[in-house]
Amino acid sequence: MLSALVLPGFTAGFYIAERVGAKIVRVSEKVFPDGELYIRIEEPEKVAGNPVMVVSTLYPNQLENLFKTLMLIDAARNAGASRLVLYVAYLAYSRQDKIFLPGEPVSACIIARVLKTAGVERLLTVDVHSPRVLECFEGSSVNLVVSDLLVEHAIKYVTNPIIIAPDKGALERASLPAGKLGLEYDYLIKQRDRTTGEITYIPREVKVEGRDVVLVDDIISTGGTIAEASRMLLKNGARRVIVTATHGLFVGNALSKIGDAGVYRIIVADTLLVKHFHPLVEYVDISEKVAAALADLSGST
Ligand code: R5P
Repeated sequence: MLSALVLPGFTAGFYIAERVGAKIVRVSEKVFPDGELYIRIEEPEKVAGNPVMVVSTLYPNQLENLFKTLMLIDAARNAGASRLVLYVAYLAYSRQDKIFLPGEPVSACIIARVLKTAGVERLLTVDVHSPRVLECFEGSSVNLVVSDLLVEHAIKYVTNPIIIAPDKGALERASLPAGKLGLEYDYLIKQRDRTTGEITYIPREVKVEGRDVVLVDDIISTGGTIAEASRMLLKNGARRVIVTATHGLFVGNALSKIGDAGVYRIIVADTLLVKHFHPLVEYVDISEKVAAALADLSGST
């Protein structure tokens, strides 16, 4: 029977493990006086000889939670897991997926390789920034795009909508729901200063006048991308802007920045260890889609 080890505190992860029908095995943790972390599978005999699914996410405290995830994977192997599947709802560092400036590492590949070295055979993640990251993982991997679920939730707020990607990289995220729902879609051209992080948009004709726009992105971090894009769309005559993004990190004053730009609602998935309770933000449950993909990947169907 499939056993699940869930990163402590990841509430959405427990729900997903239950949905897959896995047996949740308790995990305890503590911090040593010098700050080092400790994790233990409470009943390792429940793992022995069984396929094991580690359920995790890497935001916030990316490195701490990466290390806890690695410890869970190692503990599962030591306890005799027959197969190891990792569900990591948010794969941190995935935006550093190539060398942008000479002298940089490809941090996303470091994470993918470390996970494989620790013993992960199959990997499922949600809306990784670029699928290129998974090419660094030498095992089977699945990237689950959930923009269709987010947009289905958003369209209750709109009339005559158009789906828009805030940059060309997010085009597939916009085309998936647009195709499913029979809606028009387009994209904006964004430029980010690699050193200062400042975002500007290059003018491009998009048919938004008098229409509602559903913006589709993977991550909201500082909110700069979404705020700039929304401001420009509203200036160009859009009636209302609804934002959908898979991972709502909302760093610092991101939410007030987006609110000030005139956004009507922000719809995100429940992929992180934290949730933001804010009048603009709504969470969408993606557990059914994740559980189906996990059941497939772990061979339990
Ligand atoms: C960039 O290519 C990503 O898809 C997101 O648009 C970006 O990372 C969001 O970051 P921020 O909210 O800081 O603009």
